[in-house]
Amino acid sequence: MKIIELQNVFVRYLQPYKLALREINLSIEEGEFVLLVGRTGSGKSTLINTINGVIPNIISADVRGRISVFGNDPRKMPVYRLSLDVGTVYQVPESQIFALVVEDDVAFGLENRGMPPEEMRERVREALELAGLWHKRAHPTFLLSGGEKQRLAIAAILALRPKVLILDEPTSMLDAVGTAEVFSLLRKLNEERGVTIIMAEHKVEKVLGFVDRVVAIDNGTIAIDDEPHRAVAKGLSKFGVEEPQIATLHRMVKPEDGYFPITVEEFLEVDRDLKIDVEDGGPRPSGEPAVVGQLRILQIPGQRGPYPQRRRHRDTEQLGGERRGAQRLG
Ligand SMILES: Nc1ncnc2c1ncn2[C@@H]1O[C@H](COP(=O)(O)OP(=O)(O)OP(=O)(O)O)[C@@H](O)[C@H]1O
Ligand SMILES: [Mg+2]
Repeated sequence: MKIIELQNVFVRYLQPYKLALREINLSIEEGEFVLLVGRTGSGKSTLINTINGVIPNIISADVRGRISVFGNDPRKMPVYRLSLDVGTVYQVPESQIFALVVEDDVAFGLENRGMPPEEMRERVREALELAGLWHKRAHPTFLLSGGEKQRLAIAAILALRPKVLILDEPTSMLDAVGTAEVFSLLRKLNEERGVTIIMAEHKVEKVLGFVDRVVAIDNGTIAIDDEPHRAVAKGLSKFGVEEPQIATLHRMVKPEDGYFPITVEEFLEVDRDLKIDVEDGGPRPSGEPAVVGQLRILQIPGQRGPYPQRRRHRDTEQLGGERRGAQRLG
């Protein structure tokens, strides 16, 4: 079911004047995990804030076109009302933490909405357990690590039980460990709880394996909107994104493919009979290049190809198409 739909949307900031989004057509299905990528200044945050109503209700802008978020037009709704359906997590965890104690912080938003204490306690517990922070419920928030702070910010939003979780570069202030914690929480929320997620993120290598779609924004327009293997094949580096190294390797040997492996396992499956001649850089006295090694990639025992099964909301026809595509590669 389509829950978010934008048709021919244009967004102009007024001060200073800037046309930030042009002709945006995008629809998002319930349960999808959508990854937004694009160079800095391409329009990712503008798109996010247009969906959650922050634009134009809080940040003024001229927004044209048709926008439907759960059947409502965010321009015609107070932001607090829309935030019940659409929860947003921003870059800086500290800016979203209001209380001194972990569990009070999760309770804060619920109290604000006048929730009865019984239900509040239940929701605080559920959200903290999901975020892996229940054991830290009585800790001071300022003693949490960066990853824990961001998971707390996500827990506080989850306690409100939004239908969609939107994240604007949630790991940009985090180290590798904090980033991995946040990504694994998001994956769990999407795969086990069916939470619809829209996330703008630069570190794509770690998430491509579990998102359903990649939307690349280039200078205010959607340049790619596709399933991750095909999006990577189309080339993400021109949008300021570092593609998985394994995809770069595949591109060297099969540049024409339309469907790229994005994890090591998929590479080993798809390119299982591949031979790569590794050549020494310097010319030999005799003139010919020297082959110093030959790498033969074999199928790993026990692995069935061609790709791991994709997820629930793929229809069978699409899955079949992907399989056929993969066999062609193999
Ligand atoms: N409040 C504003 N007023 C005027 N122009 C703005 C405003 N906010 C953003 N812009 C401009 O709109 C364009 C899109 O900005 P946006 O913040 O959406 O990009 P982004 O893709 O989120 O970038 P980043 O990766 O740096 O977060 C940029 O040119 C930016 O300078
Ligand atoms: Mg941004």
